[in-house]
Amino acid sequence: MSKKLLLTLAGEAVWPPPMWLMRQAGRYLPEYRAVRATVPDFIALCTTPALAAEVTLQPIRRYGFDAAILFSDILILPWALGQGLEFREGEGPVLPPIRDEAGFRALTMANLAERTAPVMETVRLVRAGLRAGNFPDTALIGFAGAPFTVACYMVEGAGSRDFAATRTMAYRNPSLFDAIVELVTEGTIEYLRAQAEAGAETLMLFDSWAGVLSPAHFRRYSIEPAKRIVSALREDYPYLPIIGFPRMAGLSLAAYAAETGVNAVGIDTGMDPALAAPLLPKGVAAQGNLDPLALVAGGEAMASGARAVLSAMKGRPFIFNLGHGIVPQTPPEHVAALVELVRGS
Ligand code: CP3
Repeated sequence: MSKKLLLTLAGEAVWPPPMWLMRQAGRYLPEYRAVRATVPDFIALCTTPALAAEVTLQPIRRYGFDAAILFSDILILPWALGQGLEFREGEGPVLPPIRDEAGFRALTMANLAERTAPVMETVRLVRAGLRAGNFPDTALIGFAGAPFTVACYMVEGAGSRDFAATRTMAYRNPSLFDAIVELVTEGTIEYLRAQAEAGAETLMLFDSWAGVLSPAHFRRYSIEPAKRIVSALREDYPYLPIIGFPRMAGLSLAAYAAETGVNAVGIDTGMDPALAAPLLPKGVAAQGNLDPLALVAGGEAMASGARAVLSAMKGRPFIFNLGHGIVPQTPPEHVAALVELVRGS
């Protein structure tokens, strides 16, 4: 096996480390904007396999990353469970918020396979495209949102700074909130299993809002669901590596890494990689964590940030990445410079 990402996820300290960037397919690339302009909305892009596969492959052709990440969105799952979803220009996602039992009862797993079928077709097309494009060493990452983060958008109905309505529901009406998280957990297991079946070589769980949880709720709504998802997938795919990203988890990252069974954890921008490394079990890979804005700035700011991450992680299994998604104002040539720097480390 010569895929550096998979060797790293198996616990090897490969060096120079494999690299890819969260949101590597996106608006900072002119070729993405060109494809995006041909569809009426973002959901159409996610559910048109030929186009979703094309934008997945664009950053691989341009930069030769060690991983392609399926082009889709974490909110495709609630959409497939029957919740309305719209992406408004400049506003982000909007969903009819679920605030009571009636809203919850309108959701159903019944159409999940059918509604997510285009995503599975995208996975197959990307695997075929990697073969045809002669990228034998590029691994394909499938993904889903982690149940808490997905529930945040389902309950809040939009993005938020602190997801106050969601977290208040978790305290005031835990039976309703638990039922939502439970349904999303079951849906996520089925959704990720289908991605593995279609050819995803590793799976990532994005828990972007884990950091807003109290310690007790972090355990209940971030660690516990991740643990269930990992153990369910291991039954059918014992060798399929899983990456967890409990963003802004702080010191709770140690418990997440030790208890969920994931093969790697994402380190967010705010975490000192030199302090994070000793928190992790030896065989658990770390992934991160250059500040996306250092990549926007480029030059010495970017280079010194990247070198600090590399030197903190040298000698342990590590995947170079950003601490959060790449932003639209990133100059594509800065990404090329970063790839050169990491490859030469
Ligand atoms: O990483 C990749 O290249 C793969 C594709 C991917 C997207 N979203 C495409 C996308 C992935 C892995 C995601 C994950 C995602 N989506 C997360 C978790 C990671 C994180 O950023 O914290 C979250 C919270 C979402 C929800 C979401 N989707 C929001 C809040 C937004 C609007 C904000 C924005 O950047 O526009 C989206 C839209 C979205 N998802 C875009 C892309 C490329 C931009 C839409 C467009 O191109 O018109």
